[in-house]
This record gives sequence, structure tokens and C-alpha cells, in this order.
Amino acid sequence: MAFWKLRVEGEVVSTNDVVRGMGPWCAVVAKRQTGGRGRYGRKFVSDEGGMWLSAVVPTPGGPQAWVGYALAVGWALLCYLRSIGGGLPTARLRWPNDILVEKRKLAGILLEQPNERECIVGIGLNVRNDLTCAEGDLARTAIRLADCIAPQILPSLEELVEGTLDAIRYSWERFSMGGLAGLKDEINGCWGRMRRVRLELADGKVVEGVMVGIDEVGAILVSGDEGTDSYAAHKVKQLFEVE
Ligand code: BTN
Repeated sequence: MAFWKLRVEGEVVSTNDVVRGMGPWCAVVAKRQTGGRGRYGRKFVSDEGGMWLSAVVPTPGGPQAWVGYALAVGWALLCYLRSIGGGLPTARLRWPNDILVEKRKLAGILLEQPNERECIVGIGLNVRNDLTCAEGDLARTAIRLADCIAPQILPSLEELVEGTLDAIRYSWERFSMGGLAGLKDEINGCWGRMRRVRLELADGKVVEGVMVGIDEVGAILVSGDEGTDSYAAHKVKQLFEVE
């Protein structure tokens, strides 16, 4: 932990906002967020008992050099979570950067670029938070670490923060060394079986096909009747697994 400068907060709107401007290798964790957000401004429910964490990492070479970094973060976080105990053999990635257990979401990742030199990595992990008191169908679509791991080996929030910050740092080191190309095969081993997906694109179009992996810059490869096409994450509003 000594490497990171960590600030611990009670209630905040969004840890991604609090950490903005604090500088590289600073991180903020909060008890709850009132305005937690996900990709495309979607609401991210963040009640007490979960891990709501944001960290700033430097992006030497500018944003273009860091395209696809979010996938590296998801991969490193998944590796860390799988290392905790025997409860997560079915944990997997869902493109671009959710972590699921079977079909339910365990963790979400949101990267934001406040300037050319740094990037904010926001991670929300359901741990002991009560999903049944949240609005919507969260109890059906989400899952908590406490539902996957025996209570005696379930880490404390402090331990999870430490492990997650280590994972972010590791993802940064690996990405700095070889970019996404150096991690592509490892990441492609984390999707579980190849599934049929429907993509809602940012321009309103919808495409469907079988996800066959990612390319060197993290774009999803979708195979259909006409061949295989790639779609960059910033062009995809939402991905649905349809089988
Ligand atoms: C997603 O599911 O689309 C990404 C969710 C990211 C949630 C985390 S919680 C910590 C940080 N603060 C936020 O407002 N969002 C991220």
C-alpha cells in the first residue's frame, strides 16, 4: 500500500470525481456513492458494503498509447479475485470490462481521461452490499463476493482495496511493457466460452454474431454470416449476451 497515496472517504457522489486532480498513484475509496456511474453515464448502485475505488495512473505517450488499457485492468482484477479462494472458478470477463460470475455482474470498471497525462481507473466491486434493497433488478443481475466465497476466507474491504490497487499497478506495468498486444492471448483466455452477443452501437445500429475474442487494440471481434468485424469499445454503447 505504501506505493499508493490512499484517501478514505465516507459518502461521496463518485470516487472518480474525488480523485480527479489528485495526481498519479493517488486513490480514493468511499463507503458509499450517491452518484456512482458506469459507461455511457449509466447509474452504478454503490451502497455501503461494496468496494468503490478510483485510482489515478500516468499515461505516458498520451491517450492514444493507452487505448485498450481498461481491458488490462479487468484482466488483472480478475486474476486477483480468482487468487482469493476456491469460490470463483466461474468468474470471467465480459467485454469490454465487466467481471461476471456466470451471468451476474460482480464488478464494473470505468476509465476516464481527465487530461493527456493521466487516466482515472474506477472500480466497483460488490462485496457485502445488500443488492435486494437497490432499485431495479440488481438482485437478479448482480452478485457479491460474499455470495461466492466462504465467510472465513472473504477478505475485508481493506484487504480488497490493497489487492485491487496491486492489480491496477500490475496492469499498468504489463501494459507499459508490451501494450495490449502482449496481453491479448491471456485476456482472450478469460471470456469463458464464446457466446452469441448483440452490440448496441453508439450510432444507434445493432449488430449480432458470435464473439470470437479481441484484437491488438482491444476491439471486440464478432463473427457473423458476412465474416468477422471488429468494434472499438468507444463505438459500442452496450453488449448483451444473447445465449
Ligand atoms: C460499469 O459498470 O459500466 C462501470 C462501473 C464503474 C463503477 C465504479 S465505482 C468507483 C468509480 N466511481 C464511479 O462513479 N464509477 C466507478
